[in-house]
Amino acid sequence: MAHPNIAFVKYWGNRDIKLRLPASSSLSMNLAGLHTRTTVQFDPSLQTDTLLINGEAPPQGQQHRVSEFLHLVRNMAKIRTKARVSSENDFPNGAGIASSSSAFAALALAASAAAGLRLDERGLSTLARRGSGSAARSIPSGFVVWQAADQDRNSYGVSIAPPEHWGLADCIAIVSEEHKAVGSAEGHKLAATSPLQAARLAGAVQRLELCRKAILDRDFSGFADLVELDCHLMHAVMMTSRPPLHYWMPASLAIMAAVRDWRKAGLSVCYTLDAGPNVHVLCTDRENETVAAHLEKIPGVIRVLRANPGGPARLVNEPG
Ligand code: PMV
Repeated sequence: MAHPNIAFVKYWGNRDIKLRLPASSSLSMNLAGLHTRTTVQFDPSLQTDTLLINGEAPPQGQQHRVSEFLHLVRNMAKIRTKARVSSENDFPNGAGIASSSSAFAALALAASAAAGLRLDERGLSTLARRGSGSAARSIPSGFVVWQAADQDRNSYGVSIAPPEHWGLADCIAIVSEEHKAVGSAEGHKLAATSPLQAARLAGAVQRLELCRKAILDRDFSGFADLVELDCHLMHAVMMTSRPPLHYWMPASLAIMAAVRDWRKAGLSVCYTLDAGPNVHVLCTDRENETVAAHLEKIPGVIRVLRANPGGPARLVNEPG
């Protein structure tokens, strides 16, 4: 079982596509209350790997990606057996709620345990990263930094604070439940085609350090400035890559403007968006009822999911 995470300082672009080594370090929070639960059985009677997501066979591309990941696990465990994988999400897939983060974190944990590997947190995070970069951050607990590095073994997630460190809430305003047109795996490849990516990367180390400090000091106002700046920088890169990627919808913009107004009026609230139109509205837990009620009144908001800081990925049942 793993929670998805929301990045406050984003990952967009790789220095090594095959190894999924990121162009810059990123920082996120796990989302309690949202889960991916995955079971893996290696079965000698299987001719091929099989995959069900929410009880259905997903498109070929996703099956292939999971099979490639299982090959990594098989190589590590020195086995050749094919596996049966079943995964359930309790939140919408593919709409900027980073379902790949919890998907590959849960798969790394379940598959490595089922294959008889006993990986520590660093090993699990390094493995999860190979499936989806952001999955490296869903292995450790709470607030997590994923360090950029030039080598496979040095790029993994580390917790900088446990979930109870800061009573934040993420009110996720859903404005579309459709699968996004261009997923992040394709998007990362386009990042370097934007003339703005170099400028974004030049300030990435400083933004991460300031964001880490704002979290450790529980300084909401400093946090809000950085989170929105980092989100705007990533989307500016997306919009200026070739081909360009536009994820915001009219309702996303309406929510962003409203959040800035609420902050001016005194609420501790800010926003960030991943590769999709849904808006993660971050606030202190004290204000989450008010913020969610405000969001529900904005035209175009289908519903609001709420999550507090979450714990680490964990094994629910030991493999038998
Ligand atoms: O892990 P991926 O390849 O799905 O990339 C995640 C990209 C963003 O969600 C847009 C940003 C991030 O850091 O999570």
